[in-house]
Amino acid sequence: MSVSTSPVQQDALLHARVEVAECLGQSPPHLPYRLLWDEHNTALYDRIREQPEYYLNRLEMHLLQAHASEVMAASGARTLIELGSGTGEKALPLLQHMTAPVAYLPVDVSTSALNHLTERLRHASPSTTVRAVAADFTRPWPPVLREPGRRPVLVTFLGSTLGNLLPAERHGLLELLAGSLRPGDGLLLGVPLLHDVEVMVSAYRDAAGLMEAFYLHCLRILNRDLGTDFDLDAYAHHVVWAAPSQRVEIGLCSLADQTVLVPGPPAGRRVVFPRGEVLRATIAVRFTAGQLDDELAARGFEPLRHLPDPTSRYMLLLARLRG
Ligand SMILES: C[S@@+](CC[C@H](N)C(=O)[O-])C[C@H]1O[C@@H](n2cnc3c(N)ncnc32)[C@H](O)[C@@H]1O
Repeated sequence: MSVSTSPVQQDALLHARVEVAECLGQSPPHLPYRLLWDEHNTALYDRIREQPEYYLNRLEMHLLQAHASEVMAASGARTLIELGSGTGEKALPLLQHMTAPVAYLPVDVSTSALNHLTERLRHASPSTTVRAVAADFTRPWPPVLREPGRRPVLVTFLGSTLGNLLPAERHGLLELLAGSLRPGDGLLLGVPLLHDVEVMVSAYRDAAGLMEAFYLHCLRILNRDLGTDFDLDAYAHHVVWAAPSQRVEIGLCSLADQTVLVPGPPAGRRVVFPRGEVLRATIAVRFTAGQLDDELAARGFEPLRHLPDPTSRYMLLLARLRG
């Protein structure tokens, strides 16, 4: 696989500009999640996961190590597809408990993450056949994912990424999965649970300032890849708990009255950012088990296991597509 530094290289530039102009023009203005992940932010996220404040990653890793055997036995999976795989170490405990021969298909928009992952798996799990798929997991699946090999398939969606999708995107993804998998295939979600607000919000305010660097870099991505003219010094890291939507919202607060150009064609568009307005970069939804069960059941999935951590802050949820 070749190395590419920009997620925008996979999109038509025009399409990305139109999408960003639309997202910036909405109320509240926001950014498309998949465009935040270039090589720089992929590497930064690896460091964010290790920060003391970012407890979610540690909880998920512990749960995977503790329950991998049970999850793989219950799913009976012969093929693993991982959506938003990142650099892939969460797959390792699962792969270790699969019956050989094992096929693993990591799916990510970040080709630097996929390159890193392929290299890691070559050493850490040499008997695994890795077929990296550079694709947008919100779009219809390419043939390689629809016919990935031996069944049943287990799709994993870890790293709290389900919570980064807007409700319509989340429901769309669950429908896409229900339409792309076969009865008996499994789905393993890693999801943060609703708990103490202070604790939930603190995960996005690390003392080292890496979260802030991650989100400011999003503006650099847009300037570099789309030709926008964001002034990076004129925005500040902003984190808030949005109670009605049960989510942390992470964004950038405009420090001055300013406008930003999103180039055309046909015509460029200037977006106004008054002082104090927040450009929302990511949402981080917190779930309850009951809510997820309902959303999955409505798309034909039967929950098989709820595996929360002892503090009930995080949960692995294993489900199976019904016949
Ligand atoms: C929060 S990180 C989680 C990474 C990894 N699963 C983990 O647990 O550490 C989200 C990952 O999803 C990828 N991603 C974001 N939007 C995507 C999309 N629409 N399609 C495919 N991958 C996407 C990012 O590149 C990133 O690697």
